[in-house]
Amino acid sequence: MHEIGKLSVIEAIHQRRSVRDFTPKEVEREAVRKLLEAAVRAPSASNRQPWAFAVIQDRGVLAEYSAEIKASFPRSSENERFELQYREMLGFPNFNVFYNAGTLVVVYAHGPAPGLLEECCFAAENLMLAACDLGLGTCPIGFARPWFDLPATKAQLGIPSQYEVVLPIVVGYPAALPPETERRDPEILVWKR
Ligand SMILES: Cc1cc2nc3c(=O)[nH]c(=O)nc-3n(C[C@H](O)[C@H](O)[C@H](O)COP(=O)(O)O)c2cc1C
Repeated sequence: MHEIGKLSVIEAIHQRRSVRDFTPKEVEREAVRKLLEAAVRAPSASNRQPWAFAVIQDRGVLAEYSAEIKASFPRSSENERFELQYREMLGFPNFNVFYNAGTLVVVYAHGPAPGLLEECCFAAENLMLAACDLGLGTCPIGFARPWFDLPATKAQLGIPSQYEVVLPIVVGYPAALPPETERRDPEILVWKR
């Protein structure tokens, strides 16, 4: 385990993993603030900063949301591949889409304008790398994305309807660090010099 706050950017990039097993320790408000401050350092066109965040730090509420998400998961052909991957997990009544993490940060974009989602993804990656530096684990939960975009969900959370969900990310103290996942070598289409 590295000394907290001491990772270089390149070390954080290589040490980040999608963590799916968390200790019961709650993530402190101060730590969440640091993650959000790192997120908003992301670049954006004309510095328009199109991101906004919903933070949910209540395991009971997250367990309720997980049950609703599992029940409401769309079965359109568009999601067939995705669904196949998760069908087995979905079948387990105890499967929690948030892996029982105590903190969820949902990155939203200010609206559906071109380019905003990409910029918000930069913010999401910043957040995950900063978490790594703070000894926290994260996992993007694409599975929960459609649900956080539903008008009913936004109304319940008090999020204005024009905000568009980009990525829900669970945050917590890792119970176990997963092994590094494999990567293909960079596909270099052209390298002229
Ligand atoms: C947009 C996006 C959505 C994802 N959704 C989920 C998800 O719903 N559940 C999950 O367990 N992991 C999810 N992941 C994590 C990926 O499975 C993970 O990033 C990938 O397997 C590579 O592993 P690594 O993050 O440990 O490098 C998602 C990742 C991304 C980028």
